[in-house]
Amino acid sequence: MKKVLIIHGPNLNLLGKREEDIYGKMSLDDINKSLKKKADALGIGIDTFQSNHEGDIVQKIQDARAEGFSAVLINPAAYTHTSVAIRDAVSAIDIPVVEVHISNIYAREEFRHKSLIAPAASGQISGFGVNSYILGLEAAAGLIK
Ligand code: DQA
Repeated sequence: MKKVLIIHGPNLNLLGKREEDIYGKMSLDDINKSLKKKADALGIGIDTFQSNHEGDIVQKIQDARAEGFSAVLINPAAYTHTSVAIRDAVSAIDIPVVEVHISNIYAREEFRHKSLIAPAASGQISGFGVNSYILGLEAAAGLIK
């Protein structure tokens, strides 16, 4: 069975308690459970990982292929707008990477309009609430079929 690695970036451990008007009421655990259901329906496996640390995320991306993953789904959170290191890790691996955001980053503050990750990713889904993750998983599944 093909496996997708799901990476949640900084502060996403606070979902459900954090700026509910922007990010909704679902906790990270709820999102991971919905992703597991969707993965079962798609006939793929998932592993989930959350970190507040840039280097840990870089390492996880670097190791994804060797750990048996066929694709990565990532919400880089604030690192979207700042991290050359995560972008370079995404460019360095030869499995597809799908970038997702809960909020529409282009409808928010100007500093969020630029994603350093997007040019290195296979594609980006932004603005559909937690459904962005579900759509992203579908996209990743399509890429590894
Ligand atoms: C986010 C958008 C980012 O700008 C922000 O820093 C986040 C979450 C989103 O999912 O909408 O932490 O990636």
